[in-house]
Amino acid sequence: MSGRDSYYITTPIYYVNDSPHIGHAYTSLACDVLARFMRLDGKDVLFLTGTDEHGQKVEKSAAAAGLDPQAFADRVSQNFRDLAKRMNFSNDDFIRTTEPRHITAAQALWDKLTEKGEITLGSYAGWYSVRDEAFYGESELVNGKAPTGADVEWVEEPSYFFKLSAWGDRLLEFYDANPDFIAPRSRRNEVVSFVKSGLRDLSVSRTSFSWGIPVLSDPKHVQYVWLDALANYITEVDYPDLASEKWRQYWPADLHMVGKDILRFHAVYWPAFLMAADLAPPKRIFAHGWWTNEGQKISKSLGNVIDPLRLIETYGLDPLRYFLLREVPFGHDGDFSHAQMIKRINTDLANDLGNLAQRVLSMINKNCGGRVPEPGPLAPADETLLAAARGLLATVRAELAEQAFHRALEAIWTVISDSNRYVDEQAPWTLRKTDQARMASVLYVLAETVRHLAILVQPVMPDSAAKLLDQLAVAADRRGFGALTPADALKPGTELPPPTGVFPRYVPQDSAA
Ligand code: MSP
Repeated sequence: MSGRDSYYITTPIYYVNDSPHIGHAYTSLACDVLARFMRLDGKDVLFLTGTDEHGQKVEKSAAAAGLDPQAFADRVSQNFRDLAKRMNFSNDDFIRTTEPRHITAAQALWDKLTEKGEITLGSYAGWYSVRDEAFYGESELVNGKAPTGADVEWVEEPSYFFKLSAWGDRLLEFYDANPDFIAPRSRRNEVVSFVKSGLRDLSVSRTSFSWGIPVLSDPKHVQYVWLDALANYITEVDYPDLASEKWRQYWPADLHMVGKDILRFHAVYWPAFLMAADLAPPKRIFAHGWWTNEGQKISKSLGNVIDPLRLIETYGLDPLRYFLLREVPFGHDGDFSHAQMIKRINTDLANDLGNLAQRVLSMINKNCGGRVPEPGPLAPADETLLAAARGLLATVRAELAEQAFHRALEAIWTVISDSNRYVDEQAPWTLRKTDQARMASVLYVLAETVRHLAILVQPVMPDSAAKLLDQLAVAADRRGFGALTPADALKPGTELPPPTGVFPRYVPQDSAA
């Protein structure tokens, strides 16, 4: 074991019935930023993503594409790996539910639940939505459809059941004892009232199709895809080998990030399965909101699916990463609009951060011989700005502990505005003529502030931050949060490379967007 605090974070595993879109990129991006933040903060991070490859939905999509399900899954799963690369996700592993290691783990979980008397054979008659891969009670239907609007079909088949009905009180006790388990708070309340309204036993096997993990003791049955899928989180940490180092280091997971549509599976079924198998539930589930496209629900049938690759081509990767986490308070629904995207690029990135860095670095280049200037005695305004920069880590850490990306970024941008105001007030271009020693101090304070800002924006904009840190000649091993101390401050006299702009303005072209 590493001896460092660990941080295990997961994305949902994505169905391979569809090409990756902005919603998928969003969930994983949030995890990537947290994983990068925790690594820079000295934690031993395990960041997992992957694909959910079984179930009726995938089987149907494969048939429609004229492929056998495995060949189809291979193809679509690759698209998700490609997206992860293009989005610069730093996942440590990519799991596929068709891998032998996962099949072994999911079957071991099934056997454990059976051995504990939590799974028994019965028969299911009721409504099933293939799109949601979910069972619905008659009373949940709205105008003959699932509450999500998905079509449902009547299913009657022999099925194994998990005794979910017996877990209501224990789940409620668990939520009580762990008030931060479900976030945001409004979602927590929804889950609690769902559980309080009474839980029915859950059908956990299917016999009417075969694309799934076989139940070893009764191979006509395949596991219900959600039991199979949720198990991926423990497959990764070597379940059922509870003596393994990985298990001891990383389980329980620190955070399962999910969209609001799949909260129930993660916050109700999953902890019940785990507790029933004598395993600890994860520490936290965060359910984020959904994106709409210029005010409209995103759907294939409306033809308004947003392709993240297209956005990267148009706006650049780091601006996209910044926009997605800055624009909408994390946890709320949000609307994607090109106009807003352009506004954020030109205001927050080009005008605020980009211009600050560019002004400071080019003044140093022109007036200080391209070397970090030597500061004289610091004035109160200098101390105030440096204190604000040095105080940022604690604020950002506290915000990200609650997955409040927008507030973390807001805090960073407050210091960026303070810095721009300080440049205007101190007017180093005037000092150049009147008091060069004071100009050196001002530019030093600014460069040191930009060093803090660049280190702190690394999780969100890794490439751009690296360019800024290169321009400040910050060594690769001095870019972690441990370097956010006066001991690691820029050394006067250090030669700096010639500055280049890092955040260009976006100028719309006819073909753009
Ligand atoms: N396979 C299941 C998850 C199993 S986890 C054990 C699944 N897959 S999914 O591909 O349909 O969805 C994955 C994630 O994408 C979900 O968190 C979902 O909320 C997210 N999004 C899909 N469309 C979205 C938007 N329009 N906006 C934001 N996120 C959305 O569910």
